[in-house]
Amino acid sequence: MRVHVADHPLITHKLTVLRDRTTTSPVFRSLTEELVTLLAYEATRNVRVDPVTIETPVTTTTGVTISQPRPLVVPILRAGLGMLEGMTTMLPTAEVGFLGMARNEETLEPTTYAERLPDDLSDRQCFVIDPMLATGGSLSAAVHFLFDRGAVDVTAICLLGAPEGVAALEKSTQGRDVNLVLGALDERLDENGYIVPGLGDAGDRLYGTV
Ligand code: PRP
Ligand code: URA
Repeated sequence: MRVHVADHPLITHKLTVLRDRTTTSPVFRSLTEELVTLLAYEATRNVRVDPVTIETPVTTTTGVTISQPRPLVVPILRAGLGMLEGMTTMLPTAEVGFLGMARNEETLEPTTYAERLPDDLSDRQCFVIDPMLATGGSLSAAVHFLFDRGAVDVTAICLLGAPEGVAALEKSTQGRDVNLVLGALDERLDENGYIVPGLGDAGDRLYGTV
């Protein structure tokens, strides 16, 4: 697994505001969108393109266009939905699939309550989006859903990751082609499985249930 941790003052600045407990849901939502567009820049570095010839007003020239079949973006509900608009702004032709997962807050095990993905992912570049990589249980399960449909090229984008989650994802995807792009790699998990320093519960902060 290749791991890329963003190292850019704009990203760190926006993450700092996101972490702040006094940041309101509307600001949290728009910062999440902004952050994913910045992270998407790195995450799509190897997006497949084909050459095209076009006419400019001046001459004929060659450029590139995103290859078919289109990339697939998969937000992990609920919190991953907060990253979807930013991701599709960067990849407007992408198809969107959905995975609904909730972590049991006692056992920290994820359960899947919704799944809507294309049947055959064997030739699709897949981008999974979820703001938080904590124990890694949810993201590992999501990536294995994609592998089970034949995916061989998977990139995950998370705003924050814990070392425990990175290690778990690495272990569960050994030998597979997986990229992980993080806005920041935090210190650790606390005794309740929350990322430290983290930002709290991303879904609650996005959707105003706290
Ligand atoms: C959060 C987060 C991840 C998961 C990370 O979702 O968005 O999906 O927890 O934890 P893990 O790495 O330990 O699995 P949650 O299950 O709270 O659901 P929500 O998005 O509906 O809030
Ligand atoms: N899920 C969250 O939303 N936040 C954490 O810190 C861990 C899991």
